[in-house]
Amino acid sequence: MNKKNRIMIFDTTLRDGEQCPGASMNLREKLEVGRQLARLKVDVIEAGFPVISDGDFEAVQTIAREIKGPVITGLARCVAKDIDAAGAAVKPAGKRGRIHVFLATSKIHREFKLGKAKDEIIRLAVEGVKRARTHVSSVEFSPEDGSRTEPEFLIDVCKAVVAAGATVVNIPDTVGWAVPEQYAALIAQLYNAVPEFKSGKAIISVHCHNDLGLAVANSLAAIKAGARQVECTVNGIGERAGNAALEEIVMALKTRGDFFGGVECGVNAKEIVKASRLVSRMSGLVVQRSKAIVGENAFAHSSGIHQDGILKKRETYEIMDPQDVGWGLTELPLTKHSGRAAVAVRLKHLGFKMTDADVAAIFARFKEIGDKKKFVYDDDLTALVEGQITEVPETWSMDYIHVTCGNQTMPTATVRLRKRGSADAVQDASIGDGPVDAAVKAIDRLAGTAGKLLDYTLRSVSEGQDALGEVTLKVNFGSRDIVTGKGTGTDIVETSARAYLNAVNRFFGSGGEKSHDAQP
Ligand code: KIV
Ligand code: ZN
Repeated sequence: MNKKNRIMIFDTTLRDGEQCPGASMNLREKLEVGRQLARLKVDVIEAGFPVISDGDFEAVQTIAREIKGPVITGLARCVAKDIDAAGAAVKPAGKRGRIHVFLATSKIHREFKLGKAKDEIIRLAVEGVKRARTHVSSVEFSPEDGSRTEPEFLIDVCKAVVAAGATVVNIPDTVGWAVPEQYAALIAQLYNAVPEFKSGKAIISVHCHNDLGLAVANSLAAIKAGARQVECTVNGIGERAGNAALEEIVMALKTRGDFFGGVECGVNAKEIVKASRLVSRMSGLVVQRSKAIVGENAFAHSSGIHQDGILKKRETYEIMDPQDVGWGLTELPLTKHSGRAAVAVRLKHLGFKMTDADVAAIFARFKEIGDKKKFVYDDDLTALVEGQITEVPETWSMDYIHVTCGNQTMPTATVRLRKRGSADAVQDASIGDGPVDAAVKAIDRLAGTAGKLLDYTLRSVSEGQDALGEVTLKVNFGSRDIVTGKGTGTDIVETSARAYLNAVNRFFGSGGEKSHDAQP
């Protein structure tokens, strides 16, 4: 592949994506997403913002140690302690380690947020890049709010950071303000003004937010104008309206190679659907049905004319083959007669790296489900794995739940919980607006919490009346953070109660709030 035509896919699902309220993931969840990103063959994984919390540091360090293949990067402000933390976190990746430093450059940020003049910004940016270079040879610099920065000043910033040793300069559309023609013109202007961009010694990256729904369009326009790295997230998750969606960028490049003029990206598109489902489950952010590429309806043709055309020749109405992005690549389902070895082999085949203890726990759940369902599909098995991964240390575990409801009955739930380390269980009952509300209230009374349910989603994992139900809920327990709870099972009320308890346990187990606000 010609290096100059190669589009680097920089995935920031674990950093910018995870900044989305309620999307935070624990270490195991991040690691599984990291493994899937490696199978997807992205070029760069931005694994977190190491200085922000011990959890972020550990996640970046673990991913740098465990995940082979992609470059691993950590974000840092232009502040020594940030850069040193990022340097230490990516160290296990060796030559594949990168530090991504950022500093705002636009007039509004300089004047109102930072209170710094242009020359001071350049001085700090250069110092930051030089310090990062003492840790790693691959350094990326982002002039935050780049798209709203005066182009002449942006050129000065790019020249200065490249001279200081940055090999990638990312031009973020931080607030999703750009429109394609204008953004492309800015990228072309930078490309032509900075000799290292033309020579290929350094590359331009783009990072677009979706506030006007233009993140993908802006990223693609920038590629046409000379950008050679695109920052994006699986399912487009991210702050506010999200980031550019990885799957849309990749498939636009692959499907419309005629237009993009021979550029190539190394992503293994067959892993896209798996990545989408994993990220959706790990982040608790449900993918809208009509979402391009990965939504349930993305390839579902309902009109008779379309169906007829597709039967005659698929390309009449389909511009992509669904199998090329990983739809419909399932194997024969397992049944309750399948043994532990068969389950272990299938788990391995699905790409999960499980310990013996994990396999034992998943097999026990598999047997319970196998008794209730005729077939256990790969999606069901994946949901069980994900349930195992999202399991958090159980401050409280549920021994028993009994719920009564009906059209003439006040919904009532009786719940028995056990606190970790305590021999005795505690039991209480509550009425509620419905069976789930009653169960949630009973759990709150026992655990001493007062959660406000902000969102509740129930979806079936596979098809049929005996399908597994997956409950995802978002809860506010009174602090700034939104906590996600997840559960999977065949009984939706019990599963909802388990999902709520999962959120309660995450709340008790969380290591405090993150702050992304502080600036140098
Ligand atoms: O949106 C943004 O500006 C960012 C930077 C830190 C790259 O996420
Ligand atoms: Zn961003």
